[in-house]
Amino acid sequence: MEVIERADDFRKAADAARAGGRTVGFAPTMGFFHRGHLSLMERARAERDVVAISIFVNPLQFGPGEDLAAYPRDLDRDLALAQGIDVDLAFVPSVEEMYPGGRPEVAVDPGPLGDRLEGASRPGHLRGMATVVAKLFNLLGPSAAYFGEKDAQQLAVIRRMVRDLSMPIDVVGCPTVREPDGLAMSSRNIYLSPEERRAATCLFQALEEARASTDPSALRMAERITERIAAEPLAEPDYVAVVDDETFEDVDTMERPARVVVAARFGRARLIDNVLLQPPVGQNEANSE
Ligand code: PAJ
Repeated sequence: MEVIERADDFRKAADAARAGGRTVGFAPTMGFFHRGHLSLMERARAERDVVAISIFVNPLQFGPGEDLAAYPRDLDRDLALAQGIDVDLAFVPSVEEMYPGGRPEVAVDPGPLGDRLEGASRPGHLRGMATVVAKLFNLLGPSAAYFGEKDAQQLAVIRRMVRDLSMPIDVVGCPTVREPDGLAMSSRNIYLSPEERRAATCLFQALEEARASTDPSALRMAERITERIAAEPLAEPDYVAVVDDETFEDVDTMERPARVVVAARFGRARLIDNVLLQPPVGQNEANSE
């Protein structure tokens, strides 16, 4: 595995990797790997000739009061894990290397999708995220990029960006990897005290109840989930919404597939999770292939 700090070197290595028509799969990350990250690299390894990752805690996507300085990091461990999956290129730039002129003045506008839910709770987050991903895409030129469904709105913004800006990249959404009790893996789970860690399973439980529900009202569904999360004393719900999976606009009735998205705080950890409500088999043509 080649570990690269300089943007120029990453571009050169990428050009060499693509020579002879080899396909490049890319998984951008902020490091502090867990099995969710590794699942993206494994998928890329299985599907593409060359696998590239990036490890970069992107200041652009953190708000003023957020956890940029505290964000967990362990580069040596991350590189060892990536090596174990036979990753070919690991790009690990400094902030100065990514933003030599300071904050970029030209950025990716994520559109209305960037103002809803995560975008409303974290102003500028999705813009900063899309901007760094566009830069990484431009340096590397991957044919496919792998993102987790755990960050469903992020995935939707990337899909939209690739479509609207004609980027020749297949965006591959990968299933959320969970702990045995259902908690979605996240680098931020490390912030949880043992009590908060136990409490945090209420997100998955609330989503499972939503999945099992046959209530056609999206509003009632969202209310029940909010109550379920609020009933946990250590949880502070941020938002609960039932949305169209592409636009992230609220839906009124449970015309599936709809995505249920939740965000809540547990102490200093802000966690998000979601589930896609699929139509029951045979009921809808989306499932009849
Ligand atoms: P990060 O939080 O490090 O996540 C990197 C990738 O791993 C994202 O695609 C994310 O959705 C995926 N991921 C995280 N937890 C997962 C889980 N439990 N199961 C499956 N996939 C999971 O997301 C970012 O970094 C940044 O915003 C980034 C895209 C790198 C841009 O800075």
